[in-house]
Amino acid sequence: LDNGLARKPPMGWMSWGYFMCGVDCETHPRKCLKQKLILSVADTFYNEGYQEAGFEYIIIDDCWSEKQRDRNGRLVPDKKRFPKGMKYIADYIHSRGLKFGMYTNVAEITCMHYPGSKGHFSTDAKMFADWGVDYIKVDGCFVGEAFLNKAYIKFGQHLNASGRPMVYSCSWPYYIEFIHHKTPDYKTISRHCNMWRNYHDVVTSWQAIKTIITHYKSAYDQLSGHHGPGQWNDMDMLIFGTGSLTDSQSRVHLAVYSMLAAPLLLSCDTSRITKYEKELLLNLELLAIAQDPLGIMGRPFELETSITLWVKSHLPRKGDKYHSVSFALINLEEHASSVTFTPGLYGLNSTDGYTVMDVFTREFIRNVTLNESILVTVPEEDVILYTLFPL
Ligand code: DGJ
Repeated sequence: LDNGLARKPPMGWMSWGYFMCGVDCETHPRKCLKQKLILSVADTFYNEGYQEAGFEYIIIDDCWSEKQRDRNGRLVPDKKRFPKGMKYIADYIHSRGLKFGMYTNVAEITCMHYPGSKGHFSTDAKMFADWGVDYIKVDGCFVGEAFLNKAYIKFGQHLNASGRPMVYSCSWPYYIEFIHHKTPDYKTISRHCNMWRNYHDVVTSWQAIKTIITHYKSAYDQLSGHHGPGQWNDMDMLIFGTGSLTDSQSRVHLAVYSMLAAPLLLSCDTSRITKYEKELLLNLELLAIAQDPLGIMGRPFELETSITLWVKSHLPRKGDKYHSVSFALINLEEHASSVTFTPGLYGLNSTDGYTVMDVFTREFIRNVTLNESILVTVPEEDVILYTLFPL
């Protein structure tokens, strides 16, 4: 969607992956979706370096409202959990220089049976705008294919008419493909949405991350042509900070999402992000891959039994004539594997050669000419990630 927003893949935090429909705050106080949680994420981003690294959007997912609209047909934030309302939260987040996101569904109810936007598109778009919302996630439960195809376009028109710029995140293609078993029309979807979900919800396990990575590998040809500034395929949230991944698995998780130029949305109690996870999240060489202005979706190549090579070109650095290019060698198997690859075969063009930087250690390892090969050993469930800068 060409609305000037999301020129780079959005980064931030979204409640669903970890907190889900956390409304039972007395029984499960640590999984409670409420005002204090949202404000604390804003404080963490502001105080702990996340904001400087690019983490910006803080998004409340499903289960934020009262079960009934008010007598003027307006959605009402849950009175107990969001006692000061959404404008207050938006103002707090904005005062920290961050951005605020919310959620609705195109049907009469949301996936968790809270009031949805069907029949209220104009009122709701205006209300989100009044509250100061900067990002809106629109879900697609409980409606047919024809309705989805109309509703996402219509809702987008109402957002536009509200006059407030809002990143428009659609679940449209997911429902078309996995609920209605049709092929999504990505050309149309990318004209109307800034980002869109393609695949099932992430859950907090390594298995889920492997399945998602494998899906995007096989969907590369279908998706890559529609991916770039203003229009992103959304792999769903990161599961950092949930105690689900080993260090090497977390490297794989963030490396692949960065190579694909996917939105990077955390979903966790931020105080549980480990020291190592934080180091990865704030690794500026890795974020330079994820947030490169060209926004190219990295391309997968099967090398040998268990290793997939992902390749992604970047905008040339200031003063450089040639693109820098990142190479991620991913091993999802439970045994180490070695491979020899020739970077020059994957779209490099500086005949002076390249210098190779290891993104995780930030060390320069060696130089390569266009016909030289590199031998790497990738440990089990791990990644070797290099960025090659033209000499
Ligand atoms: C389905 C979506 O895919 C999830 O990300 C989340 O928004 C839930 N619905 C909320 O009900």
